[in-house]
Amino acid sequence: MTIRFLDLDRLHASIRADLDRAYDGVVAGGQFVGGATVASFEADFAAAHGLAGGIGCGSGTDALALALRALRLGPGDEVVVPAMTFVATAEAVAHVGATPVVADVDPVTLLLDPEHVAAVRTPSTRAVVPVHLYGHVVPLDWIDAWRADGLAVVEDAAQAHLATWRGRTVGDAGQAACFSFYPGKNLGALGDGGFVASNDPALLDAVRRLRDHGRAEKYVHDTVGWCSRLDTLQAAFLSAKLPHLAGWTKDRQRVAEAYRAALGDRLVPWEEGAVHHLLVLRVPDGRRDAVQAALRESGIETGIHYPVALSRQPATARWSRPCPNAERAAGEVLSLPMDPFLSDDDVQAVADAVLQQL
Ligand SMILES: Cc1ncc(COP(=O)(O)O)c(C=O)c1O
Repeated sequence: MTIRFLDLDRLHASIRADLDRAYDGVVAGGQFVGGATVASFEADFAAAHGLAGGIGCGSGTDALALALRALRLGPGDEVVVPAMTFVATAEAVAHVGATPVVADVDPVTLLLDPEHVAAVRTPSTRAVVPVHLYGHVVPLDWIDAWRADGLAVVEDAAQAHLATWRGRTVGDAGQAACFSFYPGKNLGALGDGGFVASNDPALLDAVRRLRDHGRAEKYVHDTVGWCSRLDTLQAAFLSAKLPHLAGWTKDRQRVAEAYRAALGDRLVPWEEGAVHHLLVLRVPDGRRDAVQAALRESGIETGIHYPVALSRQPATARWSRPCPNAERAAGEVLSLPMDPFLSDDDVQAVADAVLQQL
């Protein structure tokens, strides 16, 4: 038996004719940067979230940096980021010259929470970048409260395409939501890509210019920008995949509920509306690596998200203080296979193998 962590070959085989058509269309059209294909994907992906608009860019990391820059964050500004996330959340803050301040997370949900934001807040704190980790949404009323308290909020939705919280979409509470289209994401390109979605036309306009050399007109540059555009070819592939995203998301939710029925509170918990980019088990007592090795022996692929908290990463340690909840979780989390095409029997086989080890 082999149960892959994420079987992109199977997913791509299921829509192969659509991907081939997308490729043929771009090659025949001869426009490889920008154009109608990018614009229509931007409109469709924003609309899928009920948000006013969006701008494609080169990666999820760039999306965060572009949104932060559009909000005029820079040197002297502190931006709170959670200790349990991919390093890009903090990198983006550093890239605009602001200071990422690493805060601990809730010990159970592993999401950034008001208590830990308050613990690191100083008079220089200007913004928060909550991460919808694993596709579990940070309660949007916390984001409302941070904004009401004068902070800017950019939601890191790199793992949270189409996620909702109590009927509200990601991006509804922050000034912007930033997505990644890294291939393994819930909506993945066949390469890198990212997206800034927002209800704020001025922010979108600023991001549109910043991603394209700060350009107002072809050779008029208002500001120093980036070269961070979503390739036309990637926009075409993403447009081919987008009609399937809601169905894949429902399947991820089916798979997650099957895991929850079998493994219960051994899993990092979620609320309704989560989109399950990752399905994460906690293995306490220093046994995580042994359990991972035993599952590997049984043909079950797993991952670890993330094995090192930001507070312990060499790149970000200088902006950190101890974050015991995230640091403990880093030694316990084990991501189980999560893929919309997993059957209930696959999930049962993984759960049985896990339970044998616990
Ligand atoms: C939480 C989080 N933030 C940011 C990113 C950065 O996205 P990208 O890899 O597209 O730059 C990722 C994904 O890799 C992520 O998981």
